[in-house]
Amino acid sequence: MKKLSVSILGTGFVGLCSAVCFAHRGIKVIASTHNEEKANLINQGIAPFYEVELEEILKEVVNRNDGNFKCLVGRKQAILDTDISMIIVGTPMGEDKRIDLTLMEKAAKEIGEVLRMKENYHLTVVRSTVIPGTTRNLVGDTIQKISGKELGKDFGLCMQPEFLAEGRSIKDTFYPDRIVIGEFDKKSGDILQELYESFYGDHLKKAPILRINLESAELVKYGNNCLLATKISYANEFANLAELVPGVDVVQVMKGVGLDYRICERFLGAGVGFGGSCFPKDINAIKAFAQSKGYDPRLLNAVLAINDDQAIHIVDLAENTLNNLSNKKIALLGLAFKPGTDDMRQAPSIRIINELKRRNASNIIGYDPKAKESAREVLGNKIQYANNIEELLKDADCAIITTEWDEFKILKPSKFIRLMKNPFVIDGRRIFSFEEFDKELTFRAIGRVALK
Ligand SMILES: NC(=O)c1ccc[n+]([C@@H]2O[C@H](COP(=O)([O-])OP(=O)(O)OC[C@H]3O[C@@H](n4cnc5c(N)ncnc54)[C@H](O)[C@@H]3O)[C@@H](O)[C@H]2O)c1
Repeated sequence: MKKLSVSILGTGFVGLCSAVCFAHRGIKVIASTHNEEKANLINQGIAPFYEVELEEILKEVVNRNDGNFKCLVGRKQAILDTDISMIIVGTPMGEDKRIDLTLMEKAAKEIGEVLRMKENYHLTVVRSTVIPGTTRNLVGDTIQKISGKELGKDFGLCMQPEFLAEGRSIKDTFYPDRIVIGEFDKKSGDILQELYESFYGDHLKKAPILRINLESAELVKYGNNCLLATKISYANEFANLAELVPGVDVVQVMKGVGLDYRICERFLGAGVGFGGSCFPKDINAIKAFAQSKGYDPRLLNAVLAINDDQAIHIVDLAENTLNNLSNKKIALLGLAFKPGTDDMRQAPSIRIINELKRRNASNIIGYDPKAKESAREVLGNKIQYANNIEELLKDADCAIITTEWDEFKILKPSKFIRLMKNPFVIDGRRIFSFEEFDKELTFRAIGRVALK
């Protein structure tokens, strides 16, 4: 049987990772972008952004030169020459915090235009995160209108939510824990299942395929992200409670809670709060969707409010010790929203920096092992950028752990004492041993009060 081929519309985190993983296992893939510079980089085996393992695999599939992988500028040839098109464009948060579906609509139009001239049956799969109804009503209808073809007869439609996490995108793409296929009709779902059977083989014994309708699949993604974000805000709520009880440590409390098999320990880390390209935008998108239907999502409102307050709390901790922030050097260890990526979208560091600035801090410096350039694009000259930890901490009055990179986890109190003007550390990610740090320097940690 002929192997199905795939075009990927959108070469961001999800699109490019999917494309290289498919090609790595022998599936013919044409990635497509409108950005010529990006296409050139990708075709040379250079990843346009940092993601663990991505560039190695990209180089490998490019160097194989077996015709299974290329990146084209524009969509036409990519759609014409493949059986399945996956739309993996950004669905960002608009000014009004609602989902912005401009790129999704554009991609659907592009598919429609190509399908007008394509004879073979073609399957479109929406893999971006979209609010319920988008796949059927925006993508399906647009393709149908523009192509003049009939959905269900001439072309198929699926919605497959993506669950990969940045920093482990490649691993998650190769070894997902489930595959959710939302299908317009059985034929569409069967074709996508066939692709994944050939891609995953035996792994499907561990990763069930769930076949449901389009709207349920769209909502699964929001259900997933909202629950994970809720766990984080829940841990932060308990961190705030723990700080009211001397001797209590939220890390131990959440460990105790997480050992319950019904709950699990993951995503119960108290700290600076969540950020990234997904949680804030997805919660806001589904919140706006709920409101548009006349429902007020009280739990989601609380999850967002608790998250925003964590930045204020971190700055409170700094101000309570330093009194006045205006003439103090404040050093941020980490700028990216999490380790393993240079992604700055909605990073907690941005909220903390804005709050520091609001309280007149003028000497803020940041260091991130990977996100220096992407941080500069977002933060400009609001802060200074150190090239290494030594430069960052030199003569600083306060150090705040904002991203839990491995190279920070191994730091000892002696390093802070040697380099800083006033050794004062705020552990916003709970990466240090409280006992060890609290003994040797001024130490504040989310979810635990110092006894001295
Ligand atoms: N990043 C994640 O961890 C993650 C995880 C699961 C799901 N998702 C969802 O997957 C989707 C893509 O996310 P991402 O992080 O890969 O986004 P991204 O912003 O990294 O990439 C989006 C891609 O859209 C395309 N694009 C940009 N401008 C365009 C334009 N003017 N016209 C057409 N296409 C354009 C580009 O190829 C761009 O790289 C989103 O809906 C997101 O919510 C993301």
